[in-house]
Parts: sequence; C-alpha cells; structure tokens
Amino acid sequence: MVAIEAVRASNTSLKSLPPLVAVFVGGTSGIGLFTARELARNTTSPHIYLVGRNQTEASKIIDELKAINSSTQVSFIQKDVSLLKNVDEACQEIKSKEKQVNLLFMTCGYFVFTGRDETSEGLDKKFALHYYTRMRFISQLQPLLNAAASSKSVSRVVGVLDPQIGLRLTPNFSDLSLKNTFSLKNCATHASAMTNLSFYKLARENTGTSYVHAYPGFVDTGAGRDARGALALLAKPIMWVMLKMMQVMPAESGERHLYAATSTSFAPQAGEDAATGSFLLNWNGDVLADTDKGRKLREEGKEDAVWEHTEDVFKKICAEGGKY
Ligand SMILES: NC(=O)c1ccc[n+]([C@@H]2O[C@H](COP(=O)([O-])OP(=O)(O)OC[C@H]3O[C@@H](n4cnc5c(N)ncnc54)[C@H](OP(=O)(O)O)[C@@H]3O)[C@@H](O)[C@H]2O)c1
Repeated sequence: MVAIEAVRASNTSLKSLPPLVAVFVGGTSGIGLFTARELARNTTSPHIYLVGRNQTEASKIIDELKAINSSTQVSFIQKDVSLLKNVDEACQEIKSKEKQVNLLFMTCGYFVFTGRDETSEGLDKKFALHYYTRMRFISQLQPLLNAAASSKSVSRVVGVLDPQIGLRLTPNFSDLSLKNTFSLKNCATHASAMTNLSFYKLARENTGTSYVHAYPGFVDTGAGRDARGALALLAKPIMWVMLKMMQVMPAESGERHLYAATSTSFAPQAGEDAATGSFLLNWNGDVLADTDKGRKLREEGKEDAVWEHTEDVFKKICAEGGKY
C-alpha cells in the first residue's frame, strides 16, 4: 500500500511542473470530480476539460475549481459520450484548442442492473461507456498525448474501472461486443479484460505515454442512484453496507487518483518490463499481481485480437457512419 503521506508528498511536488492540460471524461461527478479538485489544488495554471452531460453540475464545479485555485482554467464540453460520434466531436474541440494533452482521465459509466441497452450505434450503452468510448478518446487524443511526451512532460491515460475482473476471467473472443451473449457479468468481464489488454498494447506502441487501469475501491459517489429493476432493489442495500464498511473517502480517493495520474512510479519507463507502460492498480496504489489467466492472454497475443475488434467497431461507426 502506498501510504497517504507519500501520495500527498508526490501530489504537492506537482506545483513545480509547467501547466498541465487534463481531460476528465466523467468530471461532473464522483471520482473524476474528486480527482479534478486535487489537480486544481496541487498544480499551477492547469487547464481542465470536463466532459459530461450535466451543465448545472459543471457550472458549479467550474466555480469551485476556480475558488480552489484561481489560476485554473476550466472548460466544459457537454456531450453524451455513449455515442462515439459525440466522442469525436468532443476530441475535435480539444484538438482545435490544445497542442498537447498531459492527462486523459476517464470515469464515464454507471451502475445498472438491467439488460442490454443498445445505442443508435449498435453498442450496449454501459459497455460503450466503460470500454469503446474510452478507447475512442485515447485513439483521438493520442497525438496530443504523444506531443506531451515529446516535450518531456506528463503523458498519461487513466481509466477507472476494475482491472481485477479481467485478471480472473476470460472474455468470449467470438462475441467481443456481446451482441449475442450480453449479461452484466459478461459486460464487466469484457470491459475489464479488454481494457487491460488494450492498455498493454497501446503502451507498447506509444512508449512515451503510460496507461493506468485503476480500481477505486468503494467510493461513495452516488453512482447507482438511477439503477432500476428487481436486482437493483436487492443490490442497493448490499452496496450501501459495503460502502459503509469499506469505503475510501472522497477526498482520499481524489488524492490517490491524482497520484495514479501523475506519480513517476507509473511513468512509461517505470514498469517491470521496460517496454511496457501499462499498470493495473489496486485502490491503494499497489500494482496488482499478474495471474495465469492474464499472462496466458498476453502470451497468446490476445491484445491484438481485442484491438483489431476495437478498430473494426471504430471503422463501422466512426468512419462509415454506420451501426455495429
Ligand atoms: N464508486 C465506486 O465505488 C466504484 C467502484 C468500482 C468501479 N467504479 C467505476 O468507476 C467509474 C467512476 O465511478 P463514479 O462512482 O465516479 O461514477 P459517477 O459519480 O456516477 O460519475 C460518472 C461520470 O460519468 C459521466 N457520464 C455517465 N454517463 C455519461 C454519458 N452518457 N455521457 C457523458 N458522461 C457520462 C457522468 O457525467 P454526467 O452525468 O454529467 O453525464 C459522471 O461525471 C465508473 O465506471 C464505475 O463503474 C466505481
């Protein structure tokens, strides 16, 4: 476990860095917001982009972040990013204003206890937000992340979800998009394992950027507030008890995620394998132990199969304007 004092010392040292550009996809609530607050508190003249749907929350957050640090610049991009075409529009806006991006921090998603909910682009909405949307943000903003790496500045992608599921369970490679085999369990397995594998591949291809897939622990964010269905009735009280017993407090969650997003411990060259800049983190900053299942997937080159599928989805939806 990384001691909270070490986390704070690392975060405090960020004040001496040149201004950072950080994109929070899901910055209007929860872990994204908690981390944006810590970024504003600990850096000088950051430019923070918040991407989300909720204009009312965004307006309050802009005032709050500026009150924390008056040198902070905050831009809100209002988009429903469960649609990849909206991801492209958001990225276009960022690319028109920035030459480099130092941090892409992604928490978009939600807890749901009902079945497949297909978007007009043919993907399940929750699965899209937990995987395809995030990969599309990376692929669109990678040139700006590379520019940050070239100027020897922080260049990092953080996806907050749960890498542990994908270390224990194997996706169904004959139905990666879960068109025919959707279940909440399969959705969690695919989003987790596909993120682990994609980050592994991306880190090998973009050696100046590091990719962190972080498990946040239980954080009281209000996520799940809109969950409906019989399962939700059962799950909500269980989640409430788990939260009360095991929760990471919001401020600490923000501090720990800022650490994951900026600490030199997770710089591209800091991995055990020097060619790898991908890290699977537990809530406390520990790198998760590899598993036989995770190792086997990489030995079989499954990251290529996952990325090929991801690019096929991008081609059909984003390049051809169709439906997957
Ligand atoms: N909290 C936990 O204990 C916990 C535990 C394990 C894993 N996780 C995972 O960690 C991630 C973050 O969780 P959280 O608790 O911070 O969630 P949260 O408080 O509900 O925040 C989710 C963020 O995603 C954005 N979002 C959701 N749907 C969107 C859409 N269609 N378009 C644009 N933005 C959208 C929301 O913004 P708008 O409402 O403005 O659109 C919000 O800013 C999630 O993927 C969650 O599954 C959380």
